[in-house]
Amino acid sequence: MQQFLSVHDVADPHQLVREALDLKNNPYAFESLGRHKRLLMLFFNPSLRTRLSTEVAAQQLGMHVISMNASEGWKLELADGSVMRGDTAEHVREAAGVIGQYADIIAVRSFPGLIDREQDYADTLVKAFVRYTGKPVISLESATRHPLQSLADWMTILEHQPRQRPKVVLSWAPHPRALPQAVPNSFAEWMQVADVDFYITHPPGYELDPAFTGSTPILYDQREAFAAADFIYAKNWSPLMPYGQVVNQDPDWMISADKMAGTRNAKFMHCLPVRRNVVVSDAVIDGDNSIVLQQANNRVFAAQAVLRRMLLAAQH
Ligand code: CP
Repeated sequence: MQQFLSVHDVADPHQLVREALDLKNNPYAFESLGRHKRLLMLFFNPSLRTRLSTEVAAQQLGMHVISMNASEGWKLELADGSVMRGDTAEHVREAAGVIGQYADIIAVRSFPGLIDREQDYADTLVKAFVRYTGKPVISLESATRHPLQSLADWMTILEHQPRQRPKVVLSWAPHPRALPQAVPNSFAEWMQVADVDFYITHPPGYELDPAFTGSTPILYDQREAFAAADFIYAKNWSPLMPYGQVVNQDPDWMISADKMAGTRNAKFMHCLPVRRNVVVSDAVIDGDNSIVLQQANNRVFAAQAVLRRMLLAAQH
């Protein structure tokens, strides 16, 4: 595997999720695979889970890890042919080219600006690292997708599913700030590959890009969507139009115990971080059916499965 930016980079996603589950049972089975190999992680935005889980994953494969905060004071020029008289001090062509010489695998987190949709959805920065580092690149969440999160989410569903083909519902929930669409976009893509019945519910106006949701049924009635659900995955995202704005903070969309009672004893999922009593009530996230910590735990093994494949590919 030369890049892991989306599910489309994985020829056999069902096999990958099985490998992740196997690694969870035996995390040190490949501890010599990464000997004398280096993972370099660049964070243009903050992270708790992604940073720590990917670092643990690499360590369990015997890799050395370098993490760099690139959020403050390091503005990269992305445009080709630009006359760099502005505030960008270095072009991504040189920066990525240099970084590629220092590590065997590169991982990048870069959120959208939420000002210009076309620019965000081009995912220019992560693609520039693929192009100019000459090394395998992992997305640690780009402007459009969060594939390591989705792989961990799928693992968690497989571990907790009460029946062969569970009903999984992605539900929009309110939030005071404008958030990216990366997690819901990515979750939608991976759930269309998984053996689940997948639905999305959100208020009118919060439609995701059909390039990610495909033919997934969309319901504007949250309670109707929750009926007979085995998993409720809550997430806020901002609308595509008007882009990057908060147009709805309706507290009636919060995930409450009352609504969860209308499901098939569903598990509650969220990628975290989460705003308590805005996105989800304390009763739900603290309840027996909440599996948010299990999701975060699985981030380690999702990352480890991807790193392992890249290390194996480099041997051939
Ligand atoms: N879920 C997730 O990506 O968390 P962090 O932003 O803390 O990495």
